[in-house]
Amino acid sequence: MYIRSEMVGFGHYLPPKILTNDDLSKMVETSDEWIRTRTGIAVRHIAEGESTSVIAGKAVANAIKNAGLTPQDVDLLILATVTPDNTTPSSATMIARDLGFRAGVPAFDISAACSGFVYALTLADNMIRLGQVKTAVIVGAECLSKIVDWTDRNTCVLFGDGAGAVVLRAVKGNGTAEDTGVLSTCIYSDGTQYEHLKTTGGVSTTQNAGFVQMNGKEVFKHAVVSLAEAAETAMKNAHISKDEVNWLIPHQANIRIIDSVGERLGIAPEKVIVTVDHHGNTSAASIPLALSENMEQKRLHKGDVVVLTAMGAGFTWGGAVVRL
Ligand code: ACO
Repeated sequence: MYIRSEMVGFGHYLPPKILTNDDLSKMVETSDEWIRTRTGIAVRHIAEGESTSVIAGKAVANAIKNAGLTPQDVDLLILATVTPDNTTPSSATMIARDLGFRAGVPAFDISAACSGFVYALTLADNMIRLGQVKTAVIVGAECLSKIVDWTDRNTCVLFGDGAGAVVLRAVKGNGTAEDTGVLSTCIYSDGTQYEHLKTTGGVSTTQNAGFVQMNGKEVFKHAVVSLAEAAETAMKNAHISKDEVNWLIPHQANIRIIDSVGERLGIAPEKVIVTVDHHGNTSAASIPLALSENMEQKRLHKGDVVVLTAMGAGFTWGGAVVRL
């Protein structure tokens, strides 16, 4: 018998305030035309009066409900974020408290920037396959608006806030590519690229969170290669060919990156999920937001083969193949 992790519930939450490109053009020297053509972004959501644990908690609650479960059924919670409520304790413990998880259930945050959800999926899948837990919730959530320098047009037009969550449950499989659930995961990092995308500070250096700083051209170049390579490795490890793939969900940073990755992989544009136009770049939240939104819209169906691929600060990157 082989244990797999099936995705049995999806949930997301977007804070109500919407910031348009025209709004941004009143704050910095930019234009709707520049932002749309260079990034594909039209609008993004901004959290006001709601912290990361609050928006993440809403996504988690929606995912648990969508799975037909209760918070009492959850054995593990992992939150991927670079914008926690407090430096310590983890925001995951706050979510567990607020939603009424069972006492003793492990809950922790991980920091892998835009790759955070794929990292969380890898950890949870491994714990499920080892038999350590049966039901896990993984959530990617960010309040990036809090670490954006709203006077820096190079970065402030790119990011948004939001949260997406997935419930994973142990199911029996055969260990073949026909199984339902997570078929493969892979994660990587390369700290030599640290300087290209980072905040200007942190707890043990400046004692404040700092603002996002980015070498856009370098990030772009690496992102296209890493996203494509991680997807290819995940497909190879899952014994899934590109023709068997129903959907590609790349991290939503920039439409030009997304298009280039689809082209490199030879996956047709109509199979590539795009949400960057209405979410902006929500870092660790981008993939689960796209999954949940497209499940809700019934675009994704049970049995579909979905390839996830992400890349972000560190650099970190990774991929996964899932049969829904
Ligand atoms: N509005 C108007 N002009 C702008 C803006 C803006 N918001 N931002 C930059 N510019 C200007 C620049 O100052 C520059 O002006 P200059 O030539 O006078 O110096 C000009 O536009 C061109 O800048 P480039 O950097 O060449 O623009 P490029 O086509 O590379 O696009 C972008 C910039 C969109 C940031 C691109 O490099 C990119 O997409 N990089 C990937 C980064 C990314 O998406 N990061 C997200 C986080 S990382 C991740 O999630 C993987």
